[in-house]
Amino acid sequence: MTIAENPAKIPADTSPTHLEYLRLLAAPTTSLAEHSRRHRPLPIFERPGSFLPELEKSGLTGRGGAGFPAWRKLTAVAAGADPIVIANGAEGEPASRKDRTLLSSSPHLVLDGLQVAAETVGARQAFIYVAHPAAFAGVRAALAERQKAGTDRVPVSLVEAPDTFISGQETAVISAIEGDAALPRDAVMRVVDSGFRGRPTLVQNVETLAHLALIARRGAGWFRQCGTREEPGTFLATVSGPVVRAGIYEQPYGTTIGRVLESAGGATAPLQAVLLGGYHGTWLPLDADTWTTPMSRAGLQPYGGSVGAGVVIPLARSACGLVAAAQITDYLAGQSARQCGPCLNGLPRLADTLAALAGRQARAGLVDEVARLAAVVDGRGACRHPDGTARFVRSSLSVFRDEVSAHLAGVCTADVPS
Ligand SMILES: Cc1cc2nc3c(=O)[nH]c(=O)nc-3n(C[C@H](O)[C@H](O)[C@H](O)COP(=O)(O)O)c2cc1C
Ligand code: SF4
Repeated sequence: MTIAENPAKIPADTSPTHLEYLRLLAAPTTSLAEHSRRHRPLPIFERPGSFLPELEKSGLTGRGGAGFPAWRKLTAVAAGADPIVIANGAEGEPASRKDRTLLSSSPHLVLDGLQVAAETVGARQAFIYVAHPAAFAGVRAALAERQKAGTDRVPVSLVEAPDTFISGQETAVISAIEGDAALPRDAVMRVVDSGFRGRPTLVQNVETLAHLALIARRGAGWFRQCGTREEPGTFLATVSGPVVRAGIYEQPYGTTIGRVLESAGGATAPLQAVLLGGYHGTWLPLDADTWTTPMSRAGLQPYGGSVGAGVVIPLARSACGLVAAAQITDYLAGQSARQCGPCLNGLPRLADTLAALAGRQARAGLVDEVARLAAVVDGRGACRHPDGTARFVRSSLSVFRDEVSAHLAGVCTADVPS
């Protein structure tokens, strides 16, 4: 019996409790006065660009999924004329709750980060794009408070995001802010060069901006006190599925998968696998090795995975991985903007073929057909939605390969009591 099959045998976590890593979640408040008491004053950067060297030293990476170095994006945008800055709080990923939690509990931290980013790139206009009603209301109230207090030097507009999977893709964000549908565009140029109305545009996830606000206050050295050399600091993990306390847990990069699950109180059932990063993410089989695998780019690279937007969903041993994968693929196929061939034709066929496999329809060539369709859609859309879906499907076929063989023989091992 493996550790994953018997969560009661998982060794107690002897590392410092995750509470020691609380940064973003350390001093939640929706009041501007209380926020100002709980945090050091935000420094004023006299000229655009003066914060960039400190930001580079901090090594801050984006928390919206791709993990791109923040200073590189800010540097590129700062080099252009009349730039704008957008805080991306769309959180279209169905398994993620971190952005709305942060926006509802600490809206001023995100808005501080937006100001620092705007001043750093020399923007005279900023937007915050938010989907979920409680977070939207919280940001609206926070902006009203800041306006009354005269806090912000760069004016900020709040824009409502539709609650769809792709509304947070950066060109969809720009399209929505320009007043069009929140659909990805076939971007010929990088948005850092030509985005909102052809101007250099910084689109940064709201969690990234909250970290940026803390770095501005406390410096790169402080930020690097936890995390790894390549990925310093903490990230917000959204843990759901068969765990004692599903929720948001702030963790340092490099913590192990097991510790993240332990922070949620541990598993409520024997586990077989874990989905990391979100619906565009990667499955890992859960065993003694992966339990201690670091949540970092380097740690997950051998599995083809990444921390992504911090989603962690374990799968119970009693569940069928193929059924779970087929449900997610069906959702992803339904969420495409239906603008490009791979989404219009490829994703629905991919979802149907995987559903047939999950439904134990033993047709010759079913697995090859799923693999072929995943290859056909990969890299062929205007945005990365087909690529993310293909990656998820490939990972499902690989991690649940025993289940695939069983299904082709008309059996589902999830039906067999363990
Ligand atoms: C289909 C799709 C959906 C996305 N949804 C979001 C989202 O909801 N929120 C977000 O911050 N980034 C989302 N992204 C990533 C953004 O395009 C962009 O990279 C990100 O906002 C940049 O912020 P960061 O560098 O701070 O991570 C999505 C990307 C894709 C391909
Ligand atoms: S690849 Fe799909 S989701 Fe992306 S723009 Fe094209 S149709 Fe829309």
